[in-house]
Parts: sequence; C-alpha cells; structure tokens
Amino acid sequence: MDIAEAIYHRKSIRAFRPDAVPPEMLKEIMELALRAPSWANTQPWEFAIVGGRKLEEIRRAYIEKAEELPNPDLAFPREFPEPFDTRRRAVGRKLFEILGIGREDREKRRWWYLQGLRLFEATSAIYIYIDRSFYLQGDSLNAWPIFDCGLIAENIMLLATKFGLGTVPQIQAVVYPDVLRKILGIPDSKLIVLGIAIGYPSWDDPVNQFHSEREPLDKVATWYGFD
Ligand SMILES: Cc1cc2nc3c(=O)[nH]c(=O)nc-3n(C[C@H](O)[C@H](O)[C@H](O)COP(=O)(O)O)c2cc1C
Repeated sequence: MDIAEAIYHRKSIRAFRPDAVPPEMLKEIMELALRAPSWANTQPWEFAIVGGRKLEEIRRAYIEKAEELPNPDLAFPREFPEPFDTRRRAVGRKLFEILGIGREDREKRRWWYLQGLRLFEATSAIYIYIDRSFYLQGDSLNAWPIFDCGLIAENIMLLATKFGLGTVPQIQAVVYPDVLRKILGIPDSKLIVLGIAIGYPSWDDPVNQFHSEREPLDKVATWYGFD
C-alpha cells in the first residue's frame, strides 16, 4: 500500500473484531512511526502500548467511573465557534443515523458513550504522553509537543492501515488519566495526550461504513503566486 492509498483508506474505526493484534506487528508500526518529525528533533512523545488483561482492567475501571465528569490532562475545548460546531455536529448526527439511534433515545446514546469508554472493544491501545515540564512552562503553554504528538499519531494510524488494522484516535480514551496512571504506572510528571484504539476492523458493523466528509480544498486554501 503506498502512502496515498493509506491516507485514502484510513478512517476512524469504531467496531473491532476480537482477535488480538500480534505485538510484533505493533512493534513494527511503532518503530517506523518514530521517524516522525518533531521540534528540533526533541521527540517529546512516550507511549504505553496496552493489550490483553491490562486493557480489560482499564476498560473495567473506566466503566466504573463512567458517572464521573471527564477530567483529561488536556482540557476539552470550552466552546466550538463556527464553522467548527457545525462540522462537529454533522459527525455526531451521521454516526447516530448509521447506528439507528434517535435523538431522544437516551438509553442507546448512553450505550454508545460507554462503547467509547470501552475503546469500541479494540484489542489494543496506544496511549501517547509527554513530559509536563515541556508543555507547562511558567504561566505559558508550549503547544509544540502536542503538535508533534499529532504528527506521530498520524504515522501510527497510517502504518496500521497498511497492516490491515483499524484505528480511532480517542480523547475519550484519556478522560480518566488517574486510572491510566494507576494501572500503567505513568508518573504525575507526564501529561497523557491521547489514546489510539487499534485492532482488526469489524467491517460488517454498520458503524464502520461511515465516511466523514471534508471541506473542499478551495474553501480552506488560498493560492498565491501561481498565476
Ligand atoms: C484529537 C482527536 C480526538 C478524537 N477523539 C475521539 C473520540 O473520543 N471518540 C471518537 O469516536 N472519535 C474521536 N476522534 C475521531 C474524529 O471524530 C475523526 O477523526 C473525525 O471525525 C474525522 O473522521 P475520520 O477519522 O474517520 O476521517 C478524535 C480525533 C482526534 C484527532
């Protein structure tokens, strides 16, 4: 699979088969993903790569906490100004449509929320974290390590696509960082940025038929000096 194909085929997968991903495959993905660029090659990322019983333990603890408010190390956006709110809502609306979940169906909506907390039953997860001291600097925030984590996260997801795996980057995977710190032994000096659920896609599941849209290039790019 070439890079264009991987970019074209990657999409968020939200239903997984129960067969486990071999750790050697995850290792190959991670070793190549490490070639991602970063600010002055600082390579601010660290990873917890989790499967099997450990991941089950996290799922269980997350479900036990599900009534508590999310408390991620990197706060949710406080608001979504336009046009971002419209785009965000479109994803939710279409996903619920595919899932056959009505606006008023609180029970099914709750079930779907809990599925997210369970990483959509993915057999593995990759948690990305950084050193707190590189992000929180006095009274200012250094956003660049987060940016670099985004670069490596995309590498991971594209490589996973090449191996026939599915992924979904998930803020929901890191909404209870205290649980992850406790179960995985991640120290307080680290900020947990994002989780990537990873596994073999369950292609029969309708939710995986969903294909999110993009704004056309002309709407987001302005060309200069090519006339
Ligand atoms: C930082 C980040 C956090 C995300 N968190 C979640 C999440 O918690 N749950 C989820 O279902 N999808 C999550 N997503 C996936 C986005 O909804 C998805 O990437 C977007 O709708 C575009 O769809 P695509 O990935 O299928 O192209 C997240 C994506 C990113 C980049």
